[in-house]
Amino acid sequence: MAQTHFGYETVDEAEKARKVRGVFDSVAKRYDLMNDLMSMGLHRSWKAYTVAVAGVRTGDKVLDIAGGTGDLARAFARKAGSEGTVVHTDINETMLRTGRDRLLDEGLALPTATCDAERLPFATGSFDVVSVAFGLRNMTHKDLALAEMCRVLRPGGRLLVLEFSQVAEPLRKPYDWYSFTLLPLIGKVVAKDAESYRYLAESIRMHPPQAELKAMMKRAGFGHVDVHNLSAGVVALHVGIKC
Ligand SMILES: C[S@@+](CC[C@H](N)C(=O)[O-])C[C@H]1O[C@@H](n2cnc3c(N)ncnc32)[C@H](O)[C@@H]1O
Repeated sequence: MAQTHFGYETVDEAEKARKVRGVFDSVAKRYDLMNDLMSMGLHRSWKAYTVAVAGVRTGDKVLDIAGGTGDLARAFARKAGSEGTVVHTDINETMLRTGRDRLLDEGLALPTATCDAERLPFATGSFDVVSVAFGLRNMTHKDLALAEMCRVLRPGGRLLVLEFSQVAEPLRKPYDWYSFTLLPLIGKVVAKDAESYRYLAESIRMHPPQAELKAMMKRAGFGHVDVHNLSAGVVALHVGIKC
């Protein structure tokens, strides 16, 4: 079987899928609290920016991939309104169920599907907007997943990839200290799981930086790709247009 990365470890592909599942099974319950603590609330601004750039309009069909606890799906549902459709998906049932229950508690019932981004069970050209926030990094075949995202978009449709990226040079040292010292400590105290947060820090370093991801999106079929650096490149929003 082909080898791949799980953080800094080299593992076979099936092992990576098992380990990624283990991470998100473990963190699902504390995921939202950890997101607020780890990013000092910044993930809310990064997501709000993504929603603003997405330009979802009343009646649009939106697919949120790796949607987890549902932040983007909820925001898109408000924009698409009752004439639109927002499909909330994830490969991990525990994350998806946590998100679905949270949205239901807020009075929002969205179509929800467990699915792998690398094999999307949707017809070609069926969405106006596709999004993936902090999910691509965990996928084994990112090229396949991006090609699938392109396939399910209609011509002119937009893909939004919000993901950790390469931070600007002057911030690298303090960011490394934060990621490899403080982050696993917060994970240990709050989520009783230092390992998953060590994986988070490692997987960010293994993820393609801005220009490389842009090139991957072009190879996957996006005619135009814009990159928006957020918080000095801690996170980048890549917007691909299918044209
Ligand atoms: C860090 S969470 C992001 C959740 C949410 N999008 C957010 O921004 O808060 C990453 C999600 O990616 C999902 N994921 C990992 N590999 C996937 C795949 N191949 N297909 C779909 N989802 C995947 C995980 O199950 C997890 O819920």
